[in-house]
Amino acid sequence: YHHLPLPENSECEKADGAAQFTSAGDAFDRLVSGKLRALLSLCGPPLKKGKTRIFHGLHQDFPSVVVVGLGKKNAGINEQENWNEGKENIRTAVAVGCRQIQDLEIPCVEVDPCGDAQAAAEGAVLGLHEYNELKQKKKPVVTPQLHGSAESQAWQKGVTYAEGQNLARYLMEAPANYITPIKFAEHIEQKLRTFSNVKVHIRPESWITTQEMGAFLSVAKGSAEPPIFLEIHYLGSANKDDSPLVFVGKGVTFDSGGISLKPSSGMDAMRADMGGAATVCSAIVTAAALNLPLNIIGLAPLCENMPSGKANKPGDVVRAKNGKTIQVDNTDAEGRLLLADALCYAHNFNARAIVNAATLTGAMDVALGSAATGVFTNSSWLWTHLYEASILTGDRVWRMPLFEHYTKQVTDCPLADVSNIGKYSRAGGACTAAAFLKEFVTASHWAHLDIAGVMSNKDEVPYLRKGMAGRPTRTLVEFAARLSQDTHSAK
Ligand code: BES
Ligand code: ZN
Ligand code: ZN
Repeated sequence: YHHLPLPENSECEKADGAAQFTSAGDAFDRLVSGKLRALLSLCGPPLKKGKTRIFHGLHQDFPSVVVVGLGKKNAGINEQENWNEGKENIRTAVAVGCRQIQDLEIPCVEVDPCGDAQAAAEGAVLGLHEYNELKQKKKPVVTPQLHGSAESQAWQKGVTYAEGQNLARYLMEAPANYITPIKFAEHIEQKLRTFSNVKVHIRPESWITTQEMGAFLSVAKGSAEPPIFLEIHYLGSANKDDSPLVFVGKGVTFDSGGISLKPSSGMDAMRADMGGAATVCSAIVTAAALNLPLNIIGLAPLCENMPSGKANKPGDVVRAKNGKTIQVDNTDAEGRLLLADALCYAHNFNARAIVNAATLTGAMDVALGSAATGVFTNSSWLWTHLYEASILTGDRVWRMPLFEHYTKQVTDCPLADVSNIGKYSRAGGACTAAAFLKEFVTASHWAHLDIAGVMSNKDEVPYLRKGMAGRPTRTLVEFAARLSQDTHSAK
């Protein structure tokens, strides 16, 4: 059986007060001799955005039809909101419609592409996703398909983008005793196994030691779970020697805070403290699936941050790969310790750009909440590409400062070259963290994405269910796609 959620452009009524249908909606209405429109107008005024009505028995091939309010007709880029409102409305309407179908326990749904099959596919695949793995009672599986065949390429692209984000959501949502550093690495390796142009290195602790990654190791040694440094090479460019885009992701599979222990309430959310690693690795899996014509290297230092007899103690001094010494004034500011070493290592590849993502600071959540990822970058070229990508995906970014002002607050340190917290500890916490990372970067095109605020979703993004959000995976993919078209490559 087929079922079809039909978004309608409700807030823009026709002159006669009837609802405005999408073209697929109009075609379906003709198929049932105008009965859909007639029934809808009997139900009252046109549907408001995101509101639904269900009709049964209209057509034998479509036993149930969900109609969803799509909002303003011809909505496009909204200059205040920094996103494409038309695409956002389609994602939301389709997600709502597909969930209704799932609630009715109908296994198969045909989706109205609403004039943008990619956005429609994203809405369907993101909207239906839920972490079900460990429950005996699971929601019924619904398979969304495109209604009609005109836009099947765009539909498939949307499915691939959304599945990429869902992979990151899966890794972030999974409990920390299931996704340990080694399990994370093996899961990603398995996703990349089918691609002949991808090489995955799962580096063990002995390799990390030889690399002299003293900052990363100092965090890892507090846990019984061994660390892993995951290194992915995707060679999508025609020339395998083309300078790569290098992605780096914070991979703390559980952040208890260490000796600077976090409060126990809400600590379970810190199973998602590998969100940086999850989003960048998922973006590479997606880039490979799309066969994007560029080279990408992915780096993910993976470990747990735990209190123990071997853990970092406040005041300890450790040495990063580039020789800089770091005073660990707060063991809960561990992400920057992992990233310091991974960023040093990232400089080995003659990168076009280095982009890192990390659930780095609670202060980022205080600053922007879940509206946008904070981007700290030394390159306006890089910023422009990230920003333009995010307008399309609706998974927004907002530029944040890398002032010397903040650098002074981390380099004024009693025992070492840098402290891992700012001297006015809470003030501008996201900015002092970024200034700390900058001490380990010499590349002229680097961006740090603080994704702590967008880590999880309550109900802010209507096409994502409650839970770990996998943001901003689609923006990273779209950004990589744009870089692969930018032949000038800044510089
Ligand atoms: N992983 C946390 C940051 C975080 C907090 C991410 C909430 C997502 C949601 C990070 O390791 C951390 O604990 N940072 C400290 C830094 C502070 C000690 C300078 C923080 O934000 O409190
Ligand atoms: Zn922490
Ligand atoms: Zn952390």
